[in-house]
Amino acid sequence: MSDRPLFLMTDPAAFEVSYRINPWMRPEAWKAHAGERLAEARAASSALRRALVELGGQVETVGAVRGLPDLVFPANAAVVLDGRALLARFRHPERQGEEAVFREVFCRLKRRGVLRAVIDLPEGIFQEGAGDAIWDAERGLFWAGFGPRSSESSLVAIERTFGHEVVGLELASDRYYHLDTCFCPLAGGEVLYYPPAFTSDALAAIHARVPEAARIEAADEEAGAFCVNAVNLDRQIVMARAPTSLAAKLTGRGYGLREVDLAPFILSGGAAYCMTLRLDRKSRPERAILAAE
Ligand code: ARG
Repeated sequence: MSDRPLFLMTDPAAFEVSYRINPWMRPEAWKAHAGERLAEARAASSALRRALVELGGQVETVGAVRGLPDLVFPANAAVVLDGRALLARFRHPERQGEEAVFREVFCRLKRRGVLRAVIDLPEGIFQEGAGDAIWDAERGLFWAGFGPRSSESSLVAIERTFGHEVVGLELASDRYYHLDTCFCPLAGGEVLYYPPAFTSDALAAIHARVPEAARIEAADEEAGAFCVNAVNLDRQIVMARAPTSLAAKLTGRGYGLREVDLAPFILSGGAAYCMTLRLDRKSRPERAILAAE
């Protein structure tokens, strides 16, 4: 199989903001200009796809399903590492209909050999996929958010499934309800994060593992523009339109920035990272994974 990064994205044809399960979502504002917003969303999704492809990525597409607008955020569908997909369970009934759709998508990917295993969470646990379980390739561990959406007990399930350390980070605010809205490990070992989104225990856990020189703090405006919700490919970072302050911080450290206007998706509380799901992430070289199985 090719070693180009492989992403899952969803056709935005059924995207809308029709309910409110996070403070960014304003169904009234969407409804007032629904036609225009949908056209903008299609353009934004294509621009994101183009950016990923231009950086060497490949994209698999999930078909749109009427009545499941948040299907456009496949990062919430599963945690994927080494060909194993741990299927999500959503906290809000509004998104639970996505579970069966994504299960079918992952089973199909398994039949095609893109994935090796599709795994269920134990009963009674909520876990919203890679949005709350972010692989840190540099440190060889998962950072896992819990509180607003995923259950604390999901940490053990993730650790058992993948056999890697999981560092739990409790989220302190409703606005930053998934870890990917406020935390982004980068390829050089740096971490872009928004400190006010975390409890003091979570901040201590970050500080214990990431030296000060490697911590890049996002300001209110930068996190509020959903720029921490970014896709990092080596030295390149794809994100929503960034305040110049953030662009300066990142380019100053040698990262290239690829900004995409994702405004319609920010109206739903999501941006670049959660509009995608990396399917080819490996904890170590392929040969070592096969040997261990
Ligand atoms: N409207 C969606 C929700 O509230 C947005 C999800 C964005 N995903 C993310 N991982 N940040 O569930």
